Amino acid sequence: MNEKREEIQRLIKETRSLPTLPGIVTKMSALVENDKTSIQEIARLVSSDQILSAKVLKLVNSPFYGFPGRVSTVSNALILLGVNVVKGLSLSASIFEMMEKNVVGLWEHSLGTAVAASVIAKRIGAPEAEEISTAALLHDIGKVIVKIKFEEDYKRFESLVQDKEISMFEVERELLGADHAEIGGWLAKSWYLPEKLIEPIAYHHDVEKATRHPLNTAIVHLADVLIKAGGFGFSGDNVVPLIQPAAWKKTGLTETQLEGIIDEIEDKLIDVKNLSLEIQATHDAQA
Ligand SMILES: [Fe+2]
Ligand SMILES: [Fe+2]
Repeated sequence: MNEKREEIQRLIKETRSLPTLPGIVTKMSALVENDKTSIQEIARLVSSDQILSAKVLKLVNSPFYGFPGRVSTVSNALILLGVNVVKGLSLSASIFEMMEKNVVGLWEHSLGTAVAASVIAKRIGAPEAEEISTAALLHDIGKVIVKIKFEEDYKRFESLVQDKEISMFEVERELLGADHAEIGGWLAKSWYLPEKLIEPIAYHHDVEKATRHPLNTAIVHLADVLIKAGGFGFSGDNVVPLIQPAAWKKTGLTETQLEGIIDEIEDKLIDVKNLSLEIQATHDAQA
């Protein structure tokens, strides 16, 4: 077995050495698990963190959800979206925090993929649209680990894929013995995320390997490909992979339907770009 592969697994097991979820997300998980918890209690917890509240509100008000009118309080966000979605949002917000500081292009790529996944999920009436967009937000989280923990390797990968028609994940497999999808799956597992998030993360480049949540996985894959094809954000390489046959099959989409979906995604991305710039500006102002 590749030594690096073992090293990554070890890193992820030793919680000390990997980006941990902030205490607030752990506390929130405990609150959400408990049936007796009231929305007010959760709202109080989220509100106790200013930056997190701001991010939750920003994301809630983003075109991603498309609520008419602005949502201005955390408790309203909780009532409108449901507790689990806000939990997902705060989870994403903390992960974004990591991404924003490290890889802006990847962050935009992730946000774009989430929007695309949400459009696709709604168009085909997928039952778990929220989970699918959360999975899409997190799908390349493994890249953040590689970037933070294996900075030298990451730089080498970037230069290797730069002028070649080769994907980041192929280089990773070759040189790390694991690609960012698999690594992201390990990380998601170590964070005790539900299987419906783990599988799309782990198999977004291998749709046919998804056995428990193949539709969610297919949608995340498709969204990822469309966002790369549209040139939104930057995920590390310029190769636009083909849509995998398993993804066509699972989503049941035709090429004509896909064209309509692409138009809708393109409209939404304009707003997403503005949101991204706005968040970046806040971030720069804090730095
Ligand atoms: Fe990926
Ligand atoms: Fe991606």
